[in-house]
Amino acid sequence: MKIEKILLAVVVLATMCLQSVAASTADDEVTARIKKVGSVCIQGDDCGLAAAPAVAAATGGGVEAHYKQSCSTCHSIGVAGAPVFGNRDDWAARIAKGKDVLYASVLNGLAPGMPARGMCFTCSDDDLRAITDYMVAEASD
Ligand code: HEC
Repeated sequence: MKIEKILLAVVVLATMCLQSVAASTADDEVTARIKKVGSVCIQGDDCGLAAAPAVAAATGGGVEAHYKQSCSTCHSIGVAGAPVFGNRDDWAARIAKGKDVLYASVLNGLAPGMPARGMCFTCSDDDLRAITDYMVAEASD
């Protein structure tokens, strides 16, 4: 439990560090970041794709790009007990709860390890539901 919390903290800090290093590489990026903070993402807007065109372009799709951008940090390797992407054993009991329960866990978080919105702050509610569907599909028959 303790080591999981430390691991989680390391992952979160590393992510924050990488983001600030990236931001300091070019004035343009700094300007873009400041702009992002000032812009409001209204529920239902496609804010995620608008804010992350480079990631979407690089991976060729919104849902997969969002997954990689935010959720894979924990779900690719199972940080803090996160169900591992594509692992049917990890996902079976969760899928059995029904999609509405899973959507609620993603939107609101699930203590102790799953942060609200999976830390994708550019994702709309619809984006988050779509990523959840994608993760469920990858762990189903
Ligand atoms: C900081 C790590 C972390 C990130 C980032 C993260 N998750 Fe999770 N997630 C977890 C952990 C840990 C659990 C298991 C929580 C539990 O059962 O106590 C979990 C559980 C879940 C579940 C199952 C919920 C349930 O009710 O059983 C879904 C669905 C999920 N995550 C989707 C996502 C999506 C979608 C994203 C990205 C938008 C995301 N997660 C990002 C750590 C993370």
